[in-house]
Amino acid sequence: MRATHRRGILACLFGMLAVFAPIAAMAGVRPTGAWVFDRVADYPGVTMMRVDRTGHGLEGRLTSRWYGDIAMRNVALHGRTLHFDTRNINDRDRPTRHWTATFDPAGGVLLKGGIWHGDIAQHGRRGTPRNVRTLTFRPAAPLPPLATLPPDDLAATPPMGWSSWNRFADKIDDSTIRAMADALVDSGLRDAGYLYVNIDDGWQGVRGPDGVLRPNERFPDMKALADYVHAKGLKLGLYTSPGPRTCAGYEGSYGHVAQDARTFADWGVDYVKHDLCSGEWFYDTAEGVKQAYLAMGQALRATGRPILYSLCEYGRFDVANWGRSVGGHVWRTTGDITDDYKTMSDIGFERNPRFPHAGPGGWNDPDMLEVGNGGMSRDEYRTHMTLWAMQAAPLIMGHDLRHMTDETRDLLAMPTLIAIDQDRLGEQGRRVRRADGVEIWRKRLADGAVAVAMFNRTTDPQSAVSMPDDSGLVGPVRVRDLFANRNLDQGGGALTIAPHGVVLLRVEPVMASR
Ligand code: GLA
Repeated sequence: MRATHRRGILACLFGMLAVFAPIAAMAGVRPTGAWVFDRVADYPGVTMMRVDRTGHGLEGRLTSRWYGDIAMRNVALHGRTLHFDTRNINDRDRPTRHWTATFDPAGGVLLKGGIWHGDIAQHGRRGTPRNVRTLTFRPAAPLPPLATLPPDDLAATPPMGWSSWNRFADKIDDSTIRAMADALVDSGLRDAGYLYVNIDDGWQGVRGPDGVLRPNERFPDMKALADYVHAKGLKLGLYTSPGPRTCAGYEGSYGHVAQDARTFADWGVDYVKHDLCSGEWFYDTAEGVKQAYLAMGQALRATGRPILYSLCEYGRFDVANWGRSVGGHVWRTTGDITDDYKTMSDIGFERNPRFPHAGPGGWNDPDMLEVGNGGMSRDEYRTHMTLWAMQAAPLIMGHDLRHMTDETRDLLAMPTLIAIDQDRLGEQGRRVRRADGVEIWRKRLADGAVAVAMFNRTTDPQSAVSMPDDSGLVGPVRVRDLFANRNLDQGGGALTIAPHGVVLLRVEPVMASR
């Protein structure tokens, strides 16, 4: 009996040695459990790493302020270092990223890796159960099933206004926005049709214990600001994201969509731009993105306040095809504009071609205007405005309205150009022909006239002739050169188009006299 017992103890000891030997070989490294990071790089904001040993080996996830839980893939421990991969959405050329977590004998960890544009190296320590409780990411409630929202009567013509982003990025505050409202009125641009004052990214603060999102300290009272803007005969716009973080890293509406829509309505907001940003981590299929945008569309409708809904997901998943059905009035079709001819003309000429989807109630949005920001010449800005007007694009200015030249103001306020953009037929104009760097675009107007734009995409002056076919009108026509402000001979004759410039014609049928 005793010998058997001894053999049993020995077997047990050997067994334990067999189990512990690999751990001993790791020289005391125990990667499993929760690790927390006190000094967290802003992007992607990794606050915690949790590692488990499962039947499949090591598994784990990072918790991030931008993307919630990020699965750690291909987890393997080599010596003191844990190696793993994460997906790297946003970067098609590099769809996964490699990370390491190196454990030190004092009980710390150094996490290195990155997502998209953020590379990090940050130190951490073992987390307490309390840390884990507070840092654990809570996924939002499931999204609504796909449905089609009925049209409403907003955005019969493309919205016009101003937005803070192109000129100020997130360096904005209450007094700057008030000053822009003042300048809209004083410059006459409000009366030219620019009604929305849109606060883009950078107004958000944190959520209170009730979950309600507060503006940050630069916006002490959003309701008072809305009242101020309304008292000037203007409308107020705000910006948010379906993700946990906006593109500039502010609080997004993830998990709070309905609540935020109500908050916006309570403040008196008239326009909401919903920018995918970190939401692309969660909603990366056509269906998911549609549902995410539908959730805000439904939430805005449920407030009972007429709020113009702007979808900003950079044209993914053919948004022009379904933007209306989720309640959208405008939908971005492209990535961000910048204040240079190359980007502007690439967007304006090439990247906004979903013509049939534009029309009263819903518009393709090639992004906001850069007119007045100084990066383009007079002729390039004319091209910018004309391209946008010909395509019935939203005209959302993006410069400092307090400081603009007469040339800028006159271009933005040009009644004949605005009339083309705002034409109630709502046709999105398109290219009818091109040759030698000259493009001819046509837009039919509600009164039977036709706008014909002749663009010169080269850096030399070009001579071009407007052909009768360009307007598509048969019979006698009257032709007016809108920038030159003069009538032309029948058909227009040969015209000189400045480098990167445009000649814009309004061609109208002349009624045969009886
Ligand atoms: C994205 C949008 C921009 C702007 C910024 C704000 O880049 O496309 O229009 O709203 O986010 O962060």
